[in-house]
Amino acid sequence: MVVDRALNSPMACGGKVLCIYLILAHAVAASSATVNSISIYWGQNVYEGSLAKACRTGRYAMVLMAFLSVFGSGQTPALNFAGHCNPSSGDCADLRYDIIDCQSMGVKVLLSLGGGAGSYGLSSTSDAEGLATYLWDNFLGGSGKTSLRPFGDAVLDGIDLDITNSSSSHYDDLAHNLTSLYKGDKGGRRYLLTAAPQCPYPDASLGPALATGLFDHVWVQFYNNPSCQYDPGNVGNLKSAWDQWAQALPSASVFLGLPASSDAAESGYIDPQVLVSQVLPVVNRSTNYGGIMLWSRLYDEASGYSMQFTIKGTNASDPPSGSLIPGGSGNAPLANSPTSPGNAPLANSLPTIFYDILPCFRIN
Ligand SMILES: *[C@@H]1O[C@H](CO)[C@@H](O)[C@H](O)[C@H]1NC(C)=O
Ligand SMILES: *[C@@H]1O[C@H](CO)[C@@H](O)[C@H](O)[C@H]1NC(C)=O
Ligand SMILES: *[C@@H]1O[C@H](CO)[C@@H](O)[C@H](O)[C@H]1NC(C)=O
Ligand SMILES: *[C@@H]1O[C@H](CO)[C@@H](O)[C@H](O)[C@H]1NC(C)=O
Repeated sequence: MVVDRALNSPMACGGKVLCIYLILAHAVAASSATVNSISIYWGQNVYEGSLAKACRTGRYAMVLMAFLSVFGSGQTPALNFAGHCNPSSGDCADLRYDIIDCQSMGVKVLLSLGGGAGSYGLSSTSDAEGLATYLWDNFLGGSGKTSLRPFGDAVLDGIDLDITNSSSSHYDDLAHNLTSLYKGDKGGRRYLLTAAPQCPYPDASLGPALATGLFDHVWVQFYNNPSCQYDPGNVGNLKSAWDQWAQALPSASVFLGLPASSDAAESGYIDPQVLVSQVLPVVNRSTNYGGIMLWSRLYDEASGYSMQFTIKGTNASDPPSGSLIPGGSGNAPLANSPTSPGNAPLANSLPTIFYDILPCFRIN
């Protein structure tokens, strides 16, 4: 299981610019609580809609394409985007347009390695080196001669590690090797290295990699782990784990990784209002608090979780889809999704004001 989060950068509204804040909903009092930024995992269920559509909501600073689920130990690396497209027949190539679209809206798009299923593991230093080069040539700034570049000339913004199989070998090498390749980019472009450890500290799979201090953003999964996640009414376990993570990663921004609905994980779901009143005030004391990560776009689309917050610094270019507007006609197609039975539309149960930020318009 994976979680994800977001990033932030202030929305530029300088000069003769008119910013329109559209108040979409209604309802009672609310938290117009602000979240620094939100990152989100996309790619494991076709019912979540396209990558570009996710970016167009303007709610996410970073989208993690899930997953490169086969790699290492002599295996040919393989992508898996569930029902979105079939990598082996080449029909994921059109994702290049979505990636470019997302980036033009200011959303960073990363490729996530690992996931809860698949077959992966690094067997040696040279295995790590080989994978780093493969990733650089196929998805980032490199251009190996034999490179197939699944997304053509689209250049991703970085690599995310969601390693869950408790074998931590050589991911520290991978982090070192990716970082050196990043630094060699001819155009001086900047790439990100991110990771999604689980909340028990240190992480069984990513501990040594994270100890390199080379990661930009780390989204810690505070779910499916009762020992360190939020316990209804008691933020103590989460707080102790959070403080450990935030202190251990001074050079990274640390995100609170959460399920985007109660169906998105076995445990660890936090109601948005509880998040705002009990949890955010605890985690945002850390100077390296970065925002929240959500697993996943599928669940966020259905629940409207991310819509409960004002998000600092994202470009919102589209109003949210009609199905998510409270009082609207309900949250469509998820309920029929085979992997997420019985998703209840959160939006209708939460008395909250929904803000969405439309782009700024020049008025001169
Ligand atoms: C918003 O989008 C513009 C390009 O349209 C980009 O230059 C800018 O960095 C983006 N801002 C944020 C906060 O993502
Ligand atoms: C986990 O990693 C180990 C070490 O590389 C590997 O042997 C094993 O097959 C991996 N398991 C899965 C499910 O990928
Ligand atoms: C990869 O990283 C390891 C250290 O973890 C280092 O020994 C090796 O030289 C690196 N390889 C390259 C090609 O940078
Ligand atoms: C921390 O979160 C609380 C609750 O959402 C908010 O009121 C406060 O302004 C936040 N502080 C910072 C520094 O973000």
